[in-house]
Amino acid sequence: MRFEAYPGRGPRVYLETYGCQMNVADSELVTAVLRRAGYVSADRPDDADVILLNTCAIREHAEERVLGRLSYLYRYKSARPEVRLGLLGCMAQHNRAALVEKAWYLDLVAGPDAYRRLPEMIGAAGFDPQVDVRLDRAETYADIPAAHAEGVRAYVTAMRGCDKFCAFCVVPYVRGRERSVPPNAIMREISDLAARGVREVMLLGQTVNAYHFDEVDFGALLRKIARIDGIARIRFTSPHPSDMTDSLIDAMATEPKVQPYVHLPLQSGSDRILKAMERGYTVDEYLALVAKLRRAIPSLAMSTDIIVGFHGEDDCDFRATLDVMSKVRYDGAYTFKYSLRENTRAFKLGDTVSEDEKQRRLGEVIALQEETSLARNLALIGQTFPVLVEGPARRGEGMLAGKTPQFKTAAFPASEGIGAGDIVDARVISATGHSLTCTRA
Ligand code: 5AD
Ligand code: SF4
Repeated sequence: MRFEAYPGRGPRVYLETYGCQMNVADSELVTAVLRRAGYVSADRPDDADVILLNTCAIREHAEERVLGRLSYLYRYKSARPEVRLGLLGCMAQHNRAALVEKAWYLDLVAGPDAYRRLPEMIGAAGFDPQVDVRLDRAETYADIPAAHAEGVRAYVTAMRGCDKFCAFCVVPYVRGRERSVPPNAIMREISDLAARGVREVMLLGQTVNAYHFDEVDFGALLRKIARIDGIARIRFTSPHPSDMTDSLIDAMATEPKVQPYVHLPLQSGSDRILKAMERGYTVDEYLALVAKLRRAIPSLAMSTDIIVGFHGEDDCDFRATLDVMSKVRYDGAYTFKYSLRENTRAFKLGDTVSEDEKQRRLGEVIALQEETSLARNLALIGQTFPVLVEGPARRGEGMLAGKTPQFKTAAFPASEGIGAGDIVDARVISATGHSLTCTRA
């Protein structure tokens, strides 16, 4: 496609994002790469010249959703054959052959390390379909400032890829080896964000606390970022239990800007299953870590990821997961039915738990978590928290909402002179499992 055909404005790109926060951050990177090359963003596919989907491959369901959406978007290309349709991200990398077969009309398939070349690829896609799924163990895009969305919170990529190879997970295959963004690039990006009024940064990485660059480990990185004026709150996700070092715990405990919330994926509460998952810790080690974190940071909130129905999980293993959840009493949990993924170590083991049984176990896990989340939030009634205001609350006129340090959504009545970016003290008057209703303290 020759874009000189659009005098006076660049070609328009519509980009849709699926999956985790890393993908949200990657889409901001892709937007930056394309803007540099003269493209402009489109809000809708209707009048876009290029339609891109940034995709997730973590579970089969995620892939199915994207395939459904792709076939829907294909109609824009049928109506206007000059439209270029492309698929980016983890699915592009995961099963290219099956993808190209199912979505034969794709003009462009680009994996997570190919984004620098997107402008060339889109340009050439008019002549031949373009595929670039090479992984590059050095690519961090450190020199490209992402096109961050507006808001009080910004996502900043600290590291890319994963070296853990949990038996169920495609991430190491689709995102490649672990690599950290140089600290000076992170500092520059966050200083720019602070200058634009951003108050909170969320550092991202598939195993973000495995961050290390020369002598700078993740704890040291947090301390450096805490020195940036204007940034009031620092968060990170997702850490791996095996990389929760003393340096990191110490930074969380002593650096006031680092917020008291951690997402600590458990996956299973059975040692046998954890071993088969190759998670690298036992239940006792995990519980000892939880105790250590809570000793160091008494106000800490904690969430987790749970997979039910992994290969070989029997009722006893499943009960063990419920047992650990009852012991830890998480503030929240993301719960998943095991999804067999090609290329992973567990793929050849196959599925041993029926879909119905997975669904039943998932229901139990969710019910237990809802009960715990509610009980934990009700226990906060009467307490006061500093809330970083994000904007109007979703649920009602005249209310503002934001997050407490523990990353709980808190809503309170709006008042003159208070707006996004302010930190106000709010006292909890009622709670559900998902949010807190407050008055100004
Ligand atoms: N099946 C189900 N859940 C998975 N996750 C990763 N791979 C799979 C899979 N094959 C979950 C894990 C991980 C989260 C991001 O997704 O719980 O922590
Ligand atoms: Fe996947 Fe395990 Fe890496 Fe997390 S740590 S991205 S679950 S392989």
